[in-house]
Amino acid sequence: MQPIKSPASFIGVNGDHVISFGSGQPDLLPPKEIFKNLETPRLFKYGLVQGDEALREALAREYPAAKARDFVVTNGASEALDLVFRAIHEMHGKVKVLVCRPYYYSYPPVIELAGLEPVYTDLKEGKIDLEDFKKKVRGVKAVLINSPSNPTGRVEDLDTLRAVEKLCAKLGVYVISDEVYKDLIYERENYLIKGKHVITINSFSKTYSMCGLRIGYLFARDPKIVETVVGLKIHTSMNTNILGQEMALRAMKVPRSFVERQTEVWRERRDFIHGGLIAMGFDLWKPEGAFYVLPKINPPTGGSGRVVSELFYKHKVIVYDGAWFGVPGRIRLSYALELPKIKEGLARIKSYIKGKETWLK
Ligand SMILES: Cc1ncc(COP(=O)(O)O)c(C=O)c1O
Repeated sequence: MQPIKSPASFIGVNGDHVISFGSGQPDLLPPKEIFKNLETPRLFKYGLVQGDEALREALAREYPAAKARDFVVTNGASEALDLVFRAIHEMHGKVKVLVCRPYYYSYPPVIELAGLEPVYTDLKEGKIDLEDFKKKVRGVKAVLINSPSNPTGRVEDLDTLRAVEKLCAKLGVYVISDEVYKDLIYERENYLIKGKHVITINSFSKTYSMCGLRIGYLFARDPKIVETVVGLKIHTSMNTNILGQEMALRAMKVPRSFVERQTEVWRERRDFIHGGLIAMGFDLWKPEGAFYVLPKINPPTGGSGRVVSELFYKHKVIVYDGAWFGVPGRIRLSYALELPKIKEGLARIKSYIKGKETWLK
């Protein structure tokens, strides 16, 4: 059995009776309004490096007192993260970035590729441990927050978010707030961290099920950040996919009930997968947002990586290794797939763990 070393082996893999709890790729469709009358020459030409003006204006209306000039439209949140860290390197040199662990698997590589150094604060029961955070934030230039979180599915408490916002403002530390799941929250309204020191990252991938179109953005009230990011983007990807930007703009005009209906679908699946895994004896948090669960599983040999390989090669089930997110001894399952597939996947996992119940503690 070939060991599976990273999510790259699984992204885009499906078919052949495979059930994928892997990639966080919504199976739902984007709003149908985005597809009409796209045969316009403008949509196939180069565009503004900072992003389409009309899209940035629409985005600015979503944030209090924001202006179109505060936004850069990027090729997904992924490019926004990449450019922000490189901009911080350009402005401040080789500084440290505080990352909450478990983390989205791209965070450490993207920080290191920018020439910065990640340092970690371990989450307590999946949420920021403010005591540890307060200690570690001294000495870093930026912190990276992700609520609702991939991979934990947890949503930070309002008091914690406000404390992070305030402390970082006082210390002159950037808060990079990855809010790609801000619309997929089941428990309460989200709180969006704000201030001149805050760089918000977001995307159309999850809210509008448009991940393949690669449209994301960053929002910064500090003009120096925006200017530096645009200066880098000219020489890398140039403009973001123009056709995708037009589709994103149209998606924003669709009534909000579209997003609310999707959240109800995720909630139903969340309840199903959470209940199913609990019934099998898994130890996991009930997700409050996003579409991931992160149950414990720790075989006596081979670690959680062994579970990933065996489930894939023997049962055709894709799950991600917690080690990729900084937490070996767990696996991450995305429930962004339809209920009958979740049901079938859980049945296969059940047959795999039969007789292995001690691994789940
Ligand atoms: C926390 C987090 N940030 C960023 C991304 C990247 O999103 P995009 O498709 O917009 O590049 C993902 C994708 O799964 C994610 O989970």
